[in-house]
Amino acid sequence: MSVKIIGTGSALPQKIVTNDDLAQMVETSDEWIRERTGIGSRHISTGETVVSLAAEACERALENAGKNPADVQLLLVATAAPETGIPCAACQVQSILGAGSAVAFDLNAACAGFLFALHTACAYIEAGIYENALIAGGEVLSKIVDWTDRSTCVLFGDGAGAVLVQRSEQPGILGFVQHSDGTKGEVLQCHSRQLSNPYISLPFDSHFVKMDGREVFAFAVRQVPACIREVLERNSLSPADVDLYVLHQANRRIVEGIARRLSVEEDRFPMNLDRVGNMSSAAIPVLLDELNREGRLRQGMTLVLSGFGAGLTYGACVLRW
Ligand code: ACO
Repeated sequence: MSVKIIGTGSALPQKIVTNDDLAQMVETSDEWIRERTGIGSRHISTGETVVSLAAEACERALENAGKNPADVQLLLVATAAPETGIPCAACQVQSILGAGSAVAFDLNAACAGFLFALHTACAYIEAGIYENALIAGGEVLSKIVDWTDRSTCVLFGDGAGAVLVQRSEQPGILGFVQHSDGTKGEVLQCHSRQLSNPYISLPFDSHFVKMDGREVFAFAVRQVPACIREVLERNSLSPADVDLYVLHQANRRIVEGIARRLSVEEDRFPMNLDRVGNMSSAAIPVLLDELNREGRLRQGMTLVLSGFGAGLTYGACVLRW
């Protein structure tokens, strides 16, 4: 028994913001952003929400798989930026889809969130609890980004992607590794609301993303190749056996650094961050959906998915398409 991805979908906000647009707001340039990150433009919400984007991506994944919302047994939304603490985004998506039989909840592991949610869904299916699961990664990071901070506002974009997975007798997901390092939490953080009640009122701290870019860079190029090797070795595979590496789209230089450390040609590392920026937990499922719809995923191909981000959290999964 295995778990197979049988449908993919994605949704992006309508508004496209170019690097030149950003150069009107903060002191930056298209040249700086492209050279340091590989990003050229990103989609930014003018009203779309994590819930509306995730619901649209889920609808497309169901359509792609030829399934109905009523078939869904488990619905997970990975997000670091939900509009509401309660109810969770997944329950709101469930309501929009009319997926009344599904158990729905959110999961936050930042940019590794989609991968961790996929692993969670696989564990439920392998345990025999559910037969299928709809998993979305959705972010509207533009609401937690400081638009006066040029070191972070140029990096992120909004969007959502989704996959439908199902128990299968065909080979599908072969294995996962996941890691967390809470001791490094300070390198990438975003505070929620401050504690304020009749007994205490803490001083206001910024509710925007704060990042030590160099630390994040060093973490990613060190830990991601190591965890990819770990999952491949556990499945008696080597980096050369992998047809495509679908990585979290944080930064072109990070992806290139990972390719170098794995000694794999860069053309096996598809990228879309030039058009969409860093969409955190939405990055992997959006890229996967684009590859699927472009016909670049052929049955039997070996794929590695890898997510990494705040927490710190990181992991990788190897699968047969
Ligand atoms: N435009 C122009 N100049 C800028 C900009 C900008 N948008 N941002 C920063 N600078 C300036 C800085 O002020 C600094 O100027 P100074 O030398 O006068 O002080 C100079 O550029 C160099 O700044 P650094 O922060 O040292 O630049 P660096 O080469 O490290 O590049 C970057 C910054 C792109 C963020 C890099 O550290 C990086 O790629 N880090 C990875 C972080 C990342 O991808 N985070 C995404 C979220 S986390 C995740 O998804 C895993």
